Amino acid sequence: MQLPTVLRRATPTRLKHDVRLRAAFVGRGLIPPRSMHSEEEAALLLRRSAGKAVVVELGVYEGGSAALLAERLRSGTALHLVDPFGAHDTALPPGWGALEDATKKVVARAARTGAADGGAPAVHWHVALSQDLAPRWTTPIDVLFIDGDHSEEGCRRDWDGFHEHVAADGVVLFHDSRLGVPGGRGLPGPTAVVQRLFHGADAVAGWEVVEEVDRTTVVARTAS
Ligand SMILES: C[S@@+](CC[C@H](N)C(=O)[O-])C[C@H]1O[C@@H](n2cnc3c(N)ncnc32)[C@H](O)[C@@H]1O
Repeated sequence: MQLPTVLRRATPTRLKHDVRLRAAFVGRGLIPPRSMHSEEEAALLLRRSAGKAVVVELGVYEGGSAALLAERLRSGTALHLVDPFGAHDTALPPGWGALEDATKKVVARAARTGAADGGAPAVHWHVALSQDLAPRWTTPIDVLFIDGDHSEEGCRRDWDGFHEHVAADGVVLFHDSRLGVPGGRGLPGPTAVVQRLFHGADAVAGWEVVEEVDRTTVVARTAS
């Protein structure tokens, strides 16, 4: 059972952001993982991932999106979750961070709820930097959710390291990639990567933007 909202709201900010305290509460299910996506983005992520064989999330943090996927996707999907854990200046605001043990508990709890409700995906953890995992990666990917290192270099590195593995009918979702775009939000790094890769004269061949929701850009291979 989660702590009442009134109690959570009354908690001093200093305590709310304390990484170890948050992890203790998040891990025990007393407070929810910090939500890093809007309802529209949650619906997008679920719609794009439902029924797919392989879904990969780069950057898990407290497990907000991962728990959603673990609870709502069904057996037959392999959900790969990639995060080194700890504090990362180009991924999170200063002082924020997540602990591996707590996030794994969040995701396991969500998967148990899903299993009781009709089936859950197989969860595969990769506690690693995405750039260290990329050279070893071989599995075709249906949905790649890039939400790890938000610097331009880091986001571009994730695209470079993984996009060749995206299946012919697969998609890549870039979170926080719509800064300054009408109806969008985002951060400079992922926005610059999406602008350079998919817009303008120097856009890469073979890929196109197929959907944009709030902070998220979805790209797919162009139909040949
Ligand atoms: C914005 S949070 C992810 C939020 C999560 N996708 C959600 O929706 O709840 C960014 C996460 O990326 C992780 N991260 C930072 N650099 C990374 C890298 N090189 N590879 C994988 N994850 C990374 C951080 O540890 C942090 O937990």
